[in-house]
Amino acid sequence: MPLRRLFPKKEKQEHKILRQIERSGDQLQPEYHRATPECPHPERWSMFDSMTAEVEVLEFLRTVVTTLKPELVVETGTFSGISTLWIAEGLQANGRGRVVTCEFDPKVYESAKARFASSPLASFIELRNQSSLDMQVDGTIDLLFSDSDMPIREQEVRRFLPQINPYGLILMHDASSHLKQVREAALKLEHEGLISVVLLPTPRGLVVAQKREGRK
Ligand SMILES: C[S@@+](CC[C@H](N)C(=O)[O-])C[C@H]1O[C@@H](n2cnc3c(N)ncnc32)[C@H](O)[C@@H]1O
Repeated sequence: MPLRRLFPKKEKQEHKILRQIERSGDQLQPEYHRATPECPHPERWSMFDSMTAEVEVLEFLRTVVTTLKPELVVETGTFSGISTLWIAEGLQANGRGRVVTCEFDPKVYESAKARFASSPLASFIELRNQSSLDMQVDGTIDLLFSDSDMPIREQEVRRFLPQINPYGLILMHDASSHLKQVREAALKLEHEGLISVVLLPTPRGLVVAQKREGRK
């Protein structure tokens, strides 16, 4: 018997959730990530699925965009494209700006591409099928939303830091005390004097940070 039949490859979580979305659409449900000392009642928040940022974080993203009026937003980790669309909604309200978002998994990329193609917000979005660690973006980044693979978030911020507007914002998702890795990465960057950090106590945790260099 071929080895693949004996040990079938485990389906990637991203693909599993995409199949579910294809079957039943975007389903609003209570957040089910575990409670943390900083966020003891995660069920008070909502989510569409466990990959997409919490709905309240999506609302926050849109509001940050309408508040800061960025010309250029960079997002790492598109997944099904929901957070990109909330960012684009803010850009539409501003009447300007664009969001460049990257998704390195070709299957996931295709699904986001289809979602954007059927959206009236498509003109605000540039979707790339590449890794955040290879992506080249021209210009000054006014808002960076780092939401790809947790182990590479530190590298991402370091990579884009020279291009980040010191009056802009860096948001790093999945920074709860339970998920740890992103939280520690942000605190390390702060310790090195590169960014200033505020830890928002959402279910999955959100770092709101600003670049130190150039800040007046
Ligand atoms: C947490 S999900 C993103 C969720 C999305 N931002 C939202 O809230 O709707 C992370 C995504 O990042 C993608 N990813 C992982 N590593 C990446 C990398 N190096 N570059 C680009 N995308 C990556 C994964 O395939 C996955 O779809």
